[in-house]
Amino acid sequence: MAGGPTTDTADGSGRTEPICRTEPTRRAEPIRRAEPTRRAEPAGRTEPIRRTEPTRRTEPAGRTEPTRRAAPTRRIEPTRRTGVWLIGARGSVATTVIAGCAALTAGLHRPTGMVTESAPFTDPPVPALPALSALVFGGHDTLSCPLPKRAEELAADGVLPYGLPQAVHAELTAADAAIRPGGPQPGDTRTDTELIGAFAADLRAFGRDHDLGRTVVINVASTEPAPADPHGERLPASSLYAYAALRAGCPYLNFTPSTGLHHPLLQEMATVSGLPYAGRDGKTGQTLLRSVLAPMFAQRALAVRAWSGTNLLGGGDGAALADPGAAAAKNAGKARVLADTLGELPAGDLHIDNVPALGDWKTAWDHIAFDGFLGSRMTLQTTWQGCDSALAAPLVLDLARLLAAAHTVGLSGPQPALGFYFKDPDGGPAALADQYTALVEYAELLRTGTPS
Ligand SMILES: NC(=O)c1ccc[n+]([C@@H]2O[C@H](COP(=O)([O-])OP(=O)(O)OC[C@H]3O[C@@H](n4cnc5c(N)ncnc54)[C@H](O)[C@@H]3O)[C@@H](O)[C@H]2O)c1
Repeated sequence: MAGGPTTDTADGSGRTEPICRTEPTRRAEPIRRAEPTRRAEPAGRTEPIRRTEPTRRTEPAGRTEPTRRAAPTRRIEPTRRTGVWLIGARGSVATTVIAGCAALTAGLHRPTGMVTESAPFTDPPVPALPALSALVFGGHDTLSCPLPKRAEELAADGVLPYGLPQAVHAELTAADAAIRPGGPQPGDTRTDTELIGAFAADLRAFGRDHDLGRTVVINVASTEPAPADPHGERLPASSLYAYAALRAGCPYLNFTPSTGLHHPLLQEMATVSGLPYAGRDGKTGQTLLRSVLAPMFAQRALAVRAWSGTNLLGGGDGAALADPGAAAAKNAGKARVLADTLGELPAGDLHIDNVPALGDWKTAWDHIAFDGFLGSRMTLQTTWQGCDSALAAPLVLDLARLLAAAHTVGLSGPQPALGFYFKDPDGGPAALADQYTALVEYAELLRTGTPS
């Protein structure tokens, strides 16, 4: 599967055309320090990046803060269309999101896997949720492969249904026309300040050109390693985009483990931005299962002695996660659910292996050693085999609609009720059942402006 920064995707699929490839991103120049500021920059400003004082908190932005509402609002319906701006817009997840939304809108497929299309959100409906037909897609990518071609590659690999790329060709072409060059590109001489300014300008132009009510920015780009120095001079690419989203007045979602808003330079700016945001790293497979099973062991008072895991995957994500730094960023989120639900992190390692032949199809194996009554030793093993992008796409569509609705009804700050969707959420409960309860309550908040 194509698309990752270190692609080597010869998979014997019989393709005759070259697969679109991503160039590795370049580290750009240091940000100049400026005086500390306590205010976020309003949308449309073009001043250089300002550094806030390093915060004393060790948690990511706003992790422990509750959802704050600007003003109770009842039954607000979005009147204009909603933009969905995908960072990594030509990747497997993004292409599946765009093609999938078009397929659902055309009535070609059922919305399987979309929680916002299930009873808590549809019966009665949540008026603030934008209709799937009201979503307009655009984004940034460092790759130039046209979306229809990416969709054909995904169909050839069995990720998208046969014939779907042709059926939704017009929608893919329209989204493709709204994708702007990302960065930093190899040889890019722009400073971080210039890159942020360019990305924010792209976002504003997208909203203007399509007469959008709001645009939700979603990071689905290749996972980057955690910065070596979290207080360093340079912003990682994911944080440049997150900064641009705040500057352009856009709600922000981080579906990857990359830094994004969780950078000390951005934390206070995010908190005072008046915008809703959520992350990090979509919970689609192994961690989804862990967030169900770990609470079971805790509730049955069984002693987990070791929890070990291995992931085999290919595609662009597999290639990106072959970098030990990127894999470490991913594994941190996967481990967090165990620590949060069991009270401490059990022994056991977690591995991610790149197997290009598997493409987007992931196998995740977990081995759980636990003690029962009188120290009796037992084992549970699970094997998850899933299509990564098919698992991720409905969640990305759910999150785009939910964060747009949150913005519509005046919610701001971290949205812990969206922890249901993330490995490394901004607070809230860690067990999936409790997270689902919080999400259903959130539906009521979005519906009526009043917590249930
Ligand atoms: N089930 C899932 O698929 C799942 C679950 C959780 C998280 N994620 C995360 O979602 C992300 C996307 O996964 P994917 O399978 O689509 O990967 P992919 O490799 O197919 O796509 C990533 C895209 O990001 C682009 N990109 C890289 N650097 C960029 C930059 N600086 N600016 C703009 N674009 C850039 C690449 O060109 C590529 O098109 C990964 O970070 C992955 O870890 C996926």
